[in-house]
Amino acid sequence: MTHTPINLRESIVGLDKSVPLMNGILAPYVNLDNAASTPSFKQVLAAINQFMPYYSSVHRGTGFKSRLSTTAYDQAREIIGKFVGANLETNTVIFGKNSTEALNKLSFRFPFKENDVVITTQLEHHSNDLPWRAHATSVHVRALENGRFDEDHFDQLLTEYAGRVGLVAVTGASNVSGYIQPIHRLARKAHAAGTMILVDSAQLAPHRRVDIRPDDDPEHLDFVVLSAHKMYAPYGTGALIGPKEIFMQGAPDYVGGGTVDVVTMDEVYWAGMPDRDEAGSPNVVGAVAMAVAAQVLMAVGMDHIAAHEEELIAYALERMAAVPGIKIYGETNPANANQKVGVIPFNLDGISHFKLAAILGYEGGIGVRSGCFCAHPYVVHLLQLDEGTAATWRDQLLSGDKSEMPGMVRASFGCYNNKEDVDKLVTMLHRIAAGEYEGNYVLDRASGEYTPQGYEDAFSAYFLLE
Ligand code: ALA
Repeated sequence: MTHTPINLRESIVGLDKSVPLMNGILAPYVNLDNAASTPSFKQVLAAINQFMPYYSSVHRGTGFKSRLSTTAYDQAREIIGKFVGANLETNTVIFGKNSTEALNKLSFRFPFKENDVVITTQLEHHSNDLPWRAHATSVHVRALENGRFDEDHFDQLLTEYAGRVGLVAVTGASNVSGYIQPIHRLARKAHAAGTMILVDSAQLAPHRRVDIRPDDDPEHLDFVVLSAHKMYAPYGTGALIGPKEIFMQGAPDYVGGGTVDVVTMDEVYWAGMPDRDEAGSPNVVGAVAMAVAAQVLMAVGMDHIAAHEEELIAYALERMAAVPGIKIYGETNPANANQKVGVIPFNLDGISHFKLAAILGYEGGIGVRSGCFCAHPYVVHLLQLDEGTAATWRDQLLSGDKSEMPGMVRASFGCYNNKEDVDKLVTMLHRIAAGEYEGNYVLDRASGEYTPQGYEDAFSAYFLLE
């Protein structure tokens, strides 16, 4: 496929779609929830539309469409390998559903020894924390008060657990504060300590170049995971990239069709990589979509994207800081915008994060997310909640009441957002801070969500399954 280039704003599916506000007016949708899921590139949609008439079974079919689909699937693997600079002689790209699945897979497949420790961090999304707890002793590098990673503590843990560190597992960029981790420096330290490093790149890859570097480089990233729905290909695919030799050890975590060379009634001979670790029929459409998104990002250039986003974040930090009663968590200095990806978590005095997010959506046409972003320990830390308050909240939540759940609102930017989007957010925040919103918002204690009394979404005019 060739792609026509590439005005990022013109390249986004649905950017031209207006949405209804609570007062009945149609307004352009301002999507500031890109850290959760990005919209699709038009190039991805075009490729899928072109591929679908030929889409068929992969690997085991002999017909033309199967051969074409198999070739496309194999090409997708190569493109994802190239996207992260992997040598695919020695490394493999395993496709799965998302980065959470990829991390779980590695937690099952990594050859941990008894007593092994995984060093992870307090900044992690649960997906790069809970899988390790299930397979090894997990220790967490502390976050500093400002939310940054405490590298001295990392060094201490490497020393304290010398000889026992099975793996270092860190995020490339936080989905809450946006802080970018010094992944190559950590890789160098991990390798010097005789261990390997995994970088959860779900949040990093849409914003910065992920380069795993040559296998023999001391700063090589041993394992990387990616999620397509955060890089403009929302079609249910993730990738785990890592050394073939690791996965050639032991049995796959999921077994069944495609994972074997030979099965008798008594014995199983596992296939080579990546087949051994892709049980069942793969999501070939999702893999093609992810590959095309990666091609678009490479064609635009990650440096170009990074420069645009840095400017946008600096602008947003500066303008948001002027909203009365705002508290921005993590980095607040516009001059340091290059140290984070486009994620700004905040609260407004005197208003619940749930309600604030609801007003932005219903009255501003602005999509954000609020809560703890699947990173409870980190959010509790950033909010500086004492243990008593956190325990009370946990008890309430476990009894089915989320109304007091602490959290933040998160504005997260993609490569296509612009200063006008920031302006719309800031204008709404000023209005809300001044109490100038229209709805009478009603709280549902079980979910914590607020909805405006008397308003119902008319989805049927837009999209609704019959
Ligand atoms: N991990 C995703 C987020 O941060 C879902 O929103």
